[in-house]
Amino acid sequence: MAQSNDYIVIKAEENGVNVIGLTRGTDTRFHHSEKLDKNEMMIAQFTEHTSAIKIRGRAKVQTAHGEMTSGED
Ligand code: TRP
Repeated sequence: MAQSNDYIVIKAEENGVNVIGLTRGTDTRFHHSEKLDKNEMMIAQFTEHTSAIKIRGRAKVQTAHGEMTSGED
């Protein structure tokens, strides 16, 4: 499968930001949830197990496609 090894960087801008990994394959479901407090960071990759990442809460997100902020009104 064509897959890059790029990392994505998530920096929480409030307490209780959730970073949720969703499965790759025929069913797409949550398989991992990580809670970040303000200013904590997570550096993550897409893997054979993880096809999508959902972020709940306010966080700065950097990817190869650019930088954006989640959780803004
Ligand atoms: N063990 C998981 C995996 O290899 C861990 C993981 C990778 C993950 N990327 C993630 C968890 C992104 C949450 C978000 O797929």
